[in-house]
Amino acid sequence: MTEQPSPSSSREPASPGEHPASPASVSRRQMLATSAAAALAGAAFLAPGSAQAADSEPGSASDIKSDVSPHLNFSLTGKGALVTGAARGIGRAICVALAAAGADVLGLDIAETVTPSLVYPGATPDELAETGRLVEAQGRRWIGVKADVRDFGALKAAAERADKEFGHLDIAVGNAAIQIYGPIAEMSDANWKDVIDVNLTGCANTVRAVAPLMIPRKTGRIVLISSGQGRHGFKNGSAYAASKWGIIGLMKSAALELGEHQITVNTVEPGLVDTDMTRNPGRWKEALKEAGKKPSEHPTEAEVIEARLPTAVMKIPWMQPDEVAPSVVFLCTDAANRVTGSTYDATAGDSARYTA
Ligand SMILES: NC(=O)c1ccc[n+]([C@@H]2O[C@H](COP(=O)([O-])OP(=O)(O)OC[C@H]3O[C@@H](n4cnc5c(N)ncnc54)[C@H](O)[C@@H]3O)[C@@H](O)[C@H]2O)c1
Repeated sequence: MTEQPSPSSSREPASPGEHPASPASVSRRQMLATSAAAALAGAAFLAPGSAQAADSEPGSASDIKSDVSPHLNFSLTGKGALVTGAARGIGRAICVALAAAGADVLGLDIAETVTPSLVYPGATPDELAETGRLVEAQGRRWIGVKADVRDFGALKAAAERADKEFGHLDIAVGNAAIQIYGPIAEMSDANWKDVIDVNLTGCANTVRAVAPLMIPRKTGRIVLISSGQGRHGFKNGSAYAASKWGIIGLMKSAALELGEHQITVNTVEPGLVDTDMTRNPGRWKEALKEAGKKPSEHPTEAEVIEARLPTAVMKIPWMQPDEVAPSVVFLCTDAANRVTGSTYDATAGDSARYTA
């Protein structure tokens, strides 16, 4: 990704010859921004002496020079990020993509099997270390933390460590999750609880850990990874789908609360992605059933591809993790400073069928 000047230097430069205070340069946006500032008179957006926030405040000189200034800062240079579920798959791709865009990254992962009910192997400390090597190969700093997102204290400590060692924590991505299949009528207490606790409570813990560090700085980007299954039901996947719908409700509520602090909160909904969570016979059986096929005891990848391709919008059976990560990076940029409370589908077209 091309490096851009820092946010403060790049934001909406005046056009050549334009005087910022010239009456001729007063725009509709300036008038709106000025009225917003007037309405908020008396409320200090930035305490005297505090650092300039990365996101411009309504009415600030940098925000009001033109209706059409390009707002194209896609660089994350100098930002500090925390990503959960960082050891492999989509989480690893997000860490590397954030680093490629310029961010230092703290990657947190449980790096062991979460529950014996998973039909795929747990991640390992070596995989977490490999993510670190890939981040450092981008020339950025890396902190690896082995912790469970269900442990709020551990998440809070990790967020504080990133804030201290990177100088500030600007970005948080709640990505860690598990998937357990089974009919709702046969669901065990433990399986229901594990899925909801890791996927939904883990994301809530992430928001709760990072928001107090972002609020005083009046800037922040939080992205939670939901799923296509957070947008429609999935047979034998009730706990997972419920957790992923819940993440969207969590995101929208947090966006309402944190917006006044110039912190954005969004979700990304991947479609089927080629990771350990997908590449296993248990998931393939469910994919075959979804396609109306009767799965054999040991379904093969070829069978699943053959079953999925006829209805696949972009004629691919599933996406790669690094095809999801750029959507997350975008939502973390200054360019996305007014995108909040939104669901962002990265599904290779599945979402064309189920959402308006
Ligand atoms: N793979 C897909 O098809 C797909 C589709 C839609 C959404 N998603 C979502 O994308 C995200 C990443 O999934 P993935 O496919 O890369 O799966 P994955 O299993 O490859 O990676 C998940 C990572 O989260 C970690 N993790 C699990 N529980 C944890 C816990 N309690 N604390 C800390 N870390 C924990 C795992 O160790 C693992 O490294 C998840 O939120 C998942 O629900 C995946």
